[in-house]
Amino acid sequence: MDSGAIRSPIITVLAHVDHGKTTLLDTIRKSTVTKGEAGGITQIISTTKVPIDIIRSISGPLIDKFKIKTDIPGLLFIDTPGHAAFTTMRQRGGSIADIAILLIDINEGPKPQTHECMEILQHIKTPFIIALNKIDKIPGWEKRGNSFIDSFPQQSVDVQGEFEKKFYEIVQALEMCGVSSDRYDRIKDFTKKVSIVPISAFTGEGVPDLLMMISGLSERFLKGQLITSEQSDGLVLEVKETVGLGTTIDAVISDGYVRKNDYLVVGGKNPFVTKIRALLEPSELTDIRSEKSFSSVDEITAAAGVRIAAPGLEEAVAGNRIKTTSDKVEADKLLEEFTQEQKEAEIEKDEEGLVLRADTIGSLEALEKVFEGYPVRSAAVGNIKKETVMET
Ligand code: GTP
Ligand code: MG
Repeated sequence: MDSGAIRSPIITVLAHVDHGKTTLLDTIRKSTVTKGEAGGITQIISTTKVPIDIIRSISGPLIDKFKIKTDIPGLLFIDTPGHAAFTTMRQRGGSIADIAILLIDINEGPKPQTHECMEILQHIKTPFIIALNKIDKIPGWEKRGNSFIDSFPQQSVDVQGEFEKKFYEIVQALEMCGVSSDRYDRIKDFTKKVSIVPISAFTGEGVPDLLMMISGLSERFLKGQLITSEQSDGLVLEVKETVGLGTTIDAVISDGYVRKNDYLVVGGKNPFVTKIRALLEPSELTDIRSEKSFSSVDEITAAAGVRIAAPGLEEAVAGNRIKTTSDKVEADKLLEEFTQEQKEAEIEKDEEGLVLRADTIGSLEALEKVFEGYPVRSAAVGNIKKETVMET
């Protein structure tokens, strides 16, 4: 692929715990990651690449019906944890998304982490679609086709009534939070309303509608930001040991190209440069975290999930930005840029105010945004030390 080509949009799936994120991705991948998770709870963020021919095979009739162009090479999905403890990972996932899918259990409605996800998305101005999940749990619901718009008119009058009641309660609850939304097939102007796609991640109903809508919105509103540049950009998702390779990182590459033997510049509290020894790509339709066999490749094109082996990666921290280049002088320039960014994000004042600490620049900036308007005495990347607590 050349620079200037259209890359896959990055789609982050966000929701309150147990509202069905991993099950939705399992259904799209036809895999069973959910079953292998401790307590059925996702604890890390991960990527899955879904090529466009799979999306065409799932959503074909709807793509034709709504006359959607499908020039994108596919979709790169990011799964995130919904448990209250994992706010930083939701922020990280949200910040790298071109579009987010916010899942809401139709039987439970918006919950605390649903609100938190909406706040994150509104702050960083990431467009999102709402998938109203678990429609199969509405009493009397029967699966009547794969697409929601085919299945819904064939449900009994009582079931339709029950659905509409729950649907409007949720639309009203969202309206109270400043989110104006409607069923996707009733929306005329997609710049004014957030689309709601009713689905069952379990039976797969509505999944064709959801994938069609994401592809359609990406084609229509995102094409400009999907043009690949030469300069790579990415984010560390996880730092882990890989047998035979030492410390490796799992990263999402959101722009450009990454090549074996490139210099890898890692941002963070102490930015550093290393050299890529191996690039490992998980196969399509597999989740990077559960994939056991990767293929070793010479080049990766955004958008993609990748495992990178390089000396010194034990210094990397999840959430660090990464960039790559084949040129040493350019690598030193990128290192200087990261060092400068780090300095600019940190605040140190001799006045009363909040003391903010975060694990990465990304989360520090998110914290600074949350507390905008309040006086800040100090903001820095790093752990809270005893002296800091004593001082406050
Ligand atoms: P966390 O990652 O822990 O935040 O949860 P999650 O959002 O990934 O939810 P997960 O996919 O693990 O699903 C939670 C439970 O809900 C599992 O038991 C799923 O089988 C069930 N579930 C998910 N989607 C559906 C659905 O559409 N219908 C029904 N009936 N059950 C579902
Ligand atoms: Mg999950």
